[in-house]
Amino acid sequence: WKLVFDLPGEKVNKLSESVLEDFKKVLSQLDSIAATGKIDALLLISGKPGNFIAGADIGMIQNTKNFEQANELSRAGQKLMDRWEDLPFPTVAALNGAALGGGCELALASSAIVMSDDPQAKIGVPEILLGLIPGAGGCIRLPRKVGLATAFDLILTGKTLNGERAFKAGLTEGFLPRQNFEASVIKWVGANLKALKSGIRIAKEPKLGGVGGTMGALMEKTPMGRAVIFRKAREGVMEKTRGNYPAPLEAIRVIEETSGAYGERIRGALRDKAMEREAKGFGNLAASDISKNLIRLYYLTEAVKKSKGLQPGQVAESRSVALAAVLGAGVMGGGIAQLFADKGLPIRMKDLNSQALGLGVQAATNIFQKQVKRRRLNSRQMLQKLNLIAPTVDFSGFNAVDLVIEAIVENMEVKKKVLADLEGHVPVHAVIATNTSSLSVSEMQTNLKNPERFVGMHFFNPVAKMPLVEIIRGTRSSDEAVTTIFQLSKKIGKTPIVVKDSPGFLVNRILACYLNESSHLLSDGAPIEEIDEALLEFGMPMGPMELLDEIGIDTADKVAHVIYDAYGARMGTSPNMPKVLQAGRLGKKNGKGLFTYEGKKKSLDPVIYEILGTTPKTGTVSKQEMVERCILPMINEAARCLEEKVVVSASDVDLGMIMGTGFPPFRGGLLRYADSLGATEIVASLKKYVPRFGARFEPSEALLNRAKYEQKFYPS
Ligand code: NAI
Repeated sequence: WKLVFDLPGEKVNKLSESVLEDFKKVLSQLDSIAATGKIDALLLISGKPGNFIAGADIGMIQNTKNFEQANELSRAGQKLMDRWEDLPFPTVAALNGAALGGGCELALASSAIVMSDDPQAKIGVPEILLGLIPGAGGCIRLPRKVGLATAFDLILTGKTLNGERAFKAGLTEGFLPRQNFEASVIKWVGANLKALKSGIRIAKEPKLGGVGGTMGALMEKTPMGRAVIFRKAREGVMEKTRGNYPAPLEAIRVIEETSGAYGERIRGALRDKAMEREAKGFGNLAASDISKNLIRLYYLTEAVKKSKGLQPGQVAESRSVALAAVLGAGVMGGGIAQLFADKGLPIRMKDLNSQALGLGVQAATNIFQKQVKRRRLNSRQMLQKLNLIAPTVDFSGFNAVDLVIEAIVENMEVKKKVLADLEGHVPVHAVIATNTSSLSVSEMQTNLKNPERFVGMHFFNPVAKMPLVEIIRGTRSSDEAVTTIFQLSKKIGKTPIVVKDSPGFLVNRILACYLNESSHLLSDGAPIEEIDEALLEFGMPMGPMELLDEIGIDTADKVAHVIYDAYGARMGTSPNMPKVLQAGRLGKKNGKGLFTYEGKKKSLDPVIYEILGTTPKTGTVSKQEMVERCILPMINEAARCLEEKVVVSASDVDLGMIMGTGFPPFRGGLLRYADSLGATEIVASLKKYVPRFGARFEPSEALLNRAKYEQKFYPS
């Protein structure tokens, strides 16, 4: 027998409320058929190409208003899975596509899972990424099937496995070719029917042990060994998240409190009790602000996927980009070439001489080599990708390009001259983009014959890692050019936001407030490590002191001055960065900045305080003050950006700050965080600092208005 899951009118199968209702009916039918003893085995297969079940309907989870509702939702899902598990004949989940979250949990409740070698076939429980834990039996069944090490590896990271890896991990019973998949599964079931009926383990024995598989299999089998595994898992999570994300900790607790022996399936009252514990954990998490924030963020990125980067009234079709070119083979040019090649897009890279080109190619090679080391790529694939980068010192081949990205020195006169020259060498349809980080796109347009095709495409450093691209719309940029770059950015795996042409664009302008203030904190005697610690605790991925070193003290100082020149006193720079610069400390790139670096090791050399002319004292500035002084001015500036329509919506600010600076996702973004404080509260806190620091903390008109009318950035 086979059961085909094919949700009408949808691209993927998901477990929505109505699907769960239908499933209940199907289970009753199956029960009554089984009573007549007609079913040997039941195959569960999907009617959607590339998808088994994508998981629970996220909207259904987001709509739960409190613990009770979320707990109930989890219990309802669990009960269906339990009934499926209890069917009196073997069930086989046949996965020819993605089985995620609830899809994976349904597969786990089946007697066996068989997966194809289709590249789209993957299995996993990504709930953690939404601030949740698997809530339909995943925390109970997964560790029993694959052991604690693999279960933690999957549940705590949300990663997915392909057919081959899932089979090796003992998560699935079969791994079959995707051609004639259904027929092969039926054959497979026939061959394994006896074992299926008697419940003998068919799946490979997984590697048992501790987290990361470093400890012996014995460990997992003794209570003391298990206690060590749980402790290690907890330590690992704390180190990564500083406790800011409750879901992984709760997953560990649930598994600890409900876990039984590897290889055992539980039924009846024992299973009920374990499921109740899981549902309690799910309910608490799903009702929390953190999960709601992470789900909202998921929706924001989904909205970008659907968007064309245009506003109502702007109509244009994007052009396809088959061949691209980049001017400049420096830090950014080399990174851009590598990114395009990685995504399979051929790119020409032009620089002044072969020496500069060599550096760019080397930079790209280094990134690919790291991927080879991590086994994401083999050497043949690496060479294929590198071959997509064509270095050149002249404009050969430029007559066939669809796009040129300029990434040469940050100098308006040089850029203008080079761009005017470039125009004569590319086809009329080609879009031209600049990667400038601080110069006016509109001013560059004044020198072009065909300014409409010109926009900013601002990547962040390092290009391979940073997910954001700011698309800068110059005064004369066409909708077509904007949407072309928007769609292309997504194609190369980035998250684009469209930004008005104004000094610092969006992200650097807001980030400048943060970096500036952290540097002022030094003058007040706050120790470097304490400043970083305070903001790490807040949830930033890196403290501001280390970030300054990462960006480069010279670059950061230059940007700070560009922003100061544009916006004046509120962006007042501290005298500290020039002092560090004068001492020849450029940051990570030359091994010393605010910190000192030896290879990957970072330390603090007290000589830095002599250079700064300060005497640091622990506790001079409280943690709360450090956080408020670094974060609140960013909110203040973001309110101005919205008022000036630098971006059109609060969600653009939040996406920009999360993707461009790593602003903590669990806080939902800078402005979502602002809403959680409330404008009145923010204004009051800012005002507190005005007597000491003046303009840097003067609340903006935009923020004052929000406070006055109690207006949120995200009106609910
Ligand atoms: P870089 O100094 O590492 O590289 C610039 C390259 O351009 C050099 O190889 C130089 O030989 C080449 N070049 C100069 N004139 C040229 C010409 N006429 N034709 C072809 N090549 C020419 O500079 P980097 O850091 O890569 O910056 C490039 C651009 O990217 C700048 O506009 C910068 O503002 C922007 N940017 C830089 C970021 C960073 O963190 N480094 C971040 C985002 C944007």
